[in-house]
Amino acid sequence: MKDAVDPNDQPGEEKIEQNLRPQKLTEFIGQPELKKQLRIFIAAAKKRHQSMEHLLFYGPPGLGKTTLACLLAKEMGVNIRITSGPALERAGDLASILTSLEESDIFFIDEVHRLNKVVEETLYPAMEDFRLDMVLGKGPAARTLRLELNHFTIVAATTRIGLLSAPMRDRFGFVQRINFYNNDDLEKIILRSAEILGIEIDKEALSEIAKRSRGTPRVANRILRRVRDFAEVEAGGKITLPVAKEALKLLEVDDFGLTDADRLILRCIAEKHGGGPIGIETLAASVSEDIGTIEEVYEPYLMQIGFLKRTPRGRMLTGTAFEALGLVVPNKIKQEQFEI
Ligand SMILES: Nc1ncnc2c1ncn2[C@@H]1O[C@H](COP(=O)(O)OP(=O)(O)OP(=O)(O)O)[C@@H](O)[C@H]1O
Ligand SMILES: [Mg+2]
Repeated sequence: MKDAVDPNDQPGEEKIEQNLRPQKLTEFIGQPELKKQLRIFIAAAKKRHQSMEHLLFYGPPGLGKTTLACLLAKEMGVNIRITSGPALERAGDLASILTSLEESDIFFIDEVHRLNKVVEETLYPAMEDFRLDMVLGKGPAARTLRLELNHFTIVAATTRIGLLSAPMRDRFGFVQRINFYNNDDLEKIILRSAEILGIEIDKEALSEIAKRSRGTPRVANRILRRVRDFAEVEAGGKITLPVAKEALKLLEVDDFGLTDADRLILRCIAEKHGGGPIGIETLAASVSEDIGTIEEVYEPYLMQIGFLKRTPRGRMLTGTAFEALGLVVPNKIKQEQFEI
């Protein structure tokens, strides 16, 4: 499967995004339950002078999984090594990283659902007993080399928890879903970013951008930067409500935070397939989009706002979605709503 990329990302913006990353748990906005648990988790590990148990974060892109991994390292006062599932091609790649880790270090594996089987199976004893069994050579001359490792913590992230094997999932002592953010939290995130980037912004403009950020900090930050560009060129630099609205119109982000790509998906199900149910393969082919991208980037938010449902027969639009598109709700969709 192809890598699910966020099609709205622009090159060269990673650096800005890194500067906007909260460095401490107290700077991390929202997700109160998660923060509370992490605080306890960190304090307990520190008190016992032990490494933290392995942690797994899952949820849609841009909600702060990588940010959390980095700030956990800061909070624990340990080093962090960052890699991703597809980058660890051979067991040897894994071994060279694991043997270089110091006591309590964090090893962050992004896109952990994309680890290959061999690497995954090498990882199991390393996670459990902090040892690595390497097979050297081939055939009758082959021998196993056992390496003892320092006690490290794996922090893993995935947008597709369903693709993770059960033995892998079971090896994490802490598994936590990261949820979409509410508008209040998004306003705080945008305000914080505006302060870091030195952007002047009105309260009303803040809440307008928050409303249209699909519950996602990365989207909020991206819209903020685009609106700032617009404000600098067209409106003397300050982001007011009319400036924000004008810029959002230009960006083709609607009142629900939906973009052209979301609307294409919704219209395809509504107009070509009478609201569904429609299989994900058919949908992907109709809108010329990759299945993984639809499942990871578009669908979670469309479901969150109640526009789309996953049923055993396929994807279906809801009455709300038809109304938002300015279309008549078909009877079949109305009935479906009663059945649920
Ligand atoms: N709780 C938060 N408070 C403030 N800023 C946040 C928060 N969560 C995320 N951000 C901002 O959003 C950006 C995206 O977060 P991050 O890269 O951690 O997402 P992610 O979940 O790792 O995404 P992906 O799945 O695409 O890797 C960060 O640069 C950070 O500035
Ligand atoms: Mg990430």
